[in-house]
Amino acid sequence: MHIFREIGPMKAYLKRERSNLSTVGLVPTMGALHAGHMSLLHASKKENAITVCSIYVNPTQFNNLADLEKYPRTLDKDIQMLVATECDAVFCPDNSMMYPAVSQLKFDFGALDKILEGEFRPGHYSGVALVVSKLFNLVQPNRAYFGQKDFQQFRVISRLVEELKFDLSLVCAPIVREVDGLAMSSRNMRLNAAERKRAVILYQSLKQTRDRLLQGESFSQLRKTVATQCNLNNVKLEYLALADRENLTQLDNITDPSRAILLIAAQVGDVRLIDNLFLTENSN
Ligand code: PAJ
Repeated sequence: MHIFREIGPMKAYLKRERSNLSTVGLVPTMGALHAGHMSLLHASKKENAITVCSIYVNPTQFNNLADLEKYPRTLDKDIQMLVATECDAVFCPDNSMMYPAVSQLKFDFGALDKILEGEFRPGHYSGVALVVSKLFNLVQPNRAYFGQKDFQQFRVISRLVEELKFDLSLVCAPIVREVDGLAMSSRNMRLNAAERKRAVILYQSLKQTRDRLLQGESFSQLRKTVATQCNLNNVKLEYLALADRENLTQLDNITDPSRAILLIAAQVGDVRLIDNLFLTENSN
């Protein structure tokens, strides 16, 4: 596997590959890799001749310095995992490479980046859009892979690709979960044993709300139930939202289940977790 810390050698490598008409898949990550990230790599390997994984903890998408500092960094282990999955190249730049000067560039996606995560993490999606645009320009992939785990992020990036006319296809891969249902996340490794057990409440709340919504119960009542259950479990619920899958505008009730998604965010200890479930998704 090629390991690139600098832009020049990576671009030269990709130019050579593209001259052989190889298609390139990009999997952008912030490292601390787990099976969720690996599923994106497998999807890319199936569909492209070359798969590039980027590992970069992007400071501009953190609105909280403590969160940035505590973000897990496990580069040596990540590289071993990438070698084992036969990833072709990893791009792991440092801040001076990605931000040689302080960036003043800001993105505004209207309502899409003000709701849900945007409300709790102001500026987050502007930072995501900035770094993803840089990665798209540097790698020029044919396809780029993102997880449904961060569904609002996927919608923001879809908008970015559409507006800036990036010449690539986006792929949204399903959420990979632990055996008890907790969505895999790099942040899970910051949970202690007791918090780890309590964290399953996010997925349980989604499933319970989905099932009862489909039986005709009202969303506002179900949200209250989840808030009470979170309280009792010492989990701080930030939001439980029912939204339209396409534009994420919030819904009071379901008219068409195939268009609806439930999204949740909560703090377990000092770790902030998110998860979501399509209303029509099959799960136990
Ligand atoms: P990161 O949190 O490392 O996630 C990288 C990709 O892995 C994202 O597309 C995310 O949705 C996906 N992913 C995470 N957990 C997953 C799971 N359990 N199942 C399936 N996919 C999962 O998202 C980011 O990094 C950054 O914001 C980034 C896009 C790299 C920009 O900095």
